[in-house]
Amino acid sequence: MNSVIELLKSHRSIRKFTDKVIEQELLEDLFVAGQAAATSSFLQGTTIVRISNKDTREKLAELAGNQPYVKTAAEFMIFCADLKRAGNYCEAYEKPFEGDFTEHFIIATVDVALMAQSLVTAAESVGLGICYIGGIRNNPVEVSKLLELPRGVYPVFGLCLGYPDQEPEIKPRLPISVIVKEETYNEEGDVDNIEKYDERIREYYRSRTGGGHGISWTEQVATLLSEKSRPHMKKYLEGQGFKFK
Ligand SMILES: Cc1cc2nc3c(=O)[nH]c(=O)nc-3n(C[C@H](O)[C@H](O)[C@H](O)COP(=O)(O)O)c2cc1C
Repeated sequence: MNSVIELLKSHRSIRKFTDKVIEQELLEDLFVAGQAAATSSFLQGTTIVRISNKDTREKLAELAGNQPYVKTAAEFMIFCADLKRAGNYCEAYEKPFEGDFTEHFIIATVDVALMAQSLVTAAESVGLGICYIGGIRNNPVEVSKLLELPRGVYPVFGLCLGYPDQEPEIKPRLPISVIVKEETYNEEGDVDNIEKYDERIREYYRSRTGGGHGISWTEQVATLLSEKSRPHMKKYLEGQGFKFK
């Protein structure tokens, strides 16, 4: 098996890091590797805010729902979708700014995810561990104030990076037959396959927690979709200039 494929298949989030610092040269390489990802309409709609200040890290860890690895990872950075940098040039070219369509929001957000994941793959290829931090969207207004984010820019997620101080099990994913369909959206066989998968996931949680009930995947995601999810996001994004036209 090709080593890149092996690497991708060995991903797991890391939430405990050693004190070892990431050399500046390596970090710069990771940024360049991430930046090489495809970018919709060549927008290059990602801005990364790297946070080194200890107090800011502590505040962000708290704002993200008290996630300690935000403080303890060698590096913590926030990936922002950025329509401002490009939008600044509308006036220079005497064009009206129309960068507040839903489509622009999608373009910039997809750009962020692609760049982050390329950076993550590069990082994991040199033995670093990572954990995405969507928790920063618990308090997007406070995070934006702390980072002085202007209109047209919003924080999509944070990323912890560092040398792993744990070796967690790989978390099993859904069977490929469930997620890859031939020609049309055909759900045949899904119920049975997902039932078998649920048992694997219960087992995974049982072994991670040392016994207990072990929640299934279906119960976990049904709960997720039965509850309101960060209902403040629409108003926050509109306030940041993402108008969903
Ligand atoms: C956009 C995004 C946001 C996430 N936010 C958090 C987070 O705030 N805290 C956390 O501990 N893990 C977070 N995760 C990690 C997921 O929980 C994890 O990827 C998932 O459970 C699968 O586990 P694995 O990465 O170990 O395979 C996030 C993942 C993604 C992609």
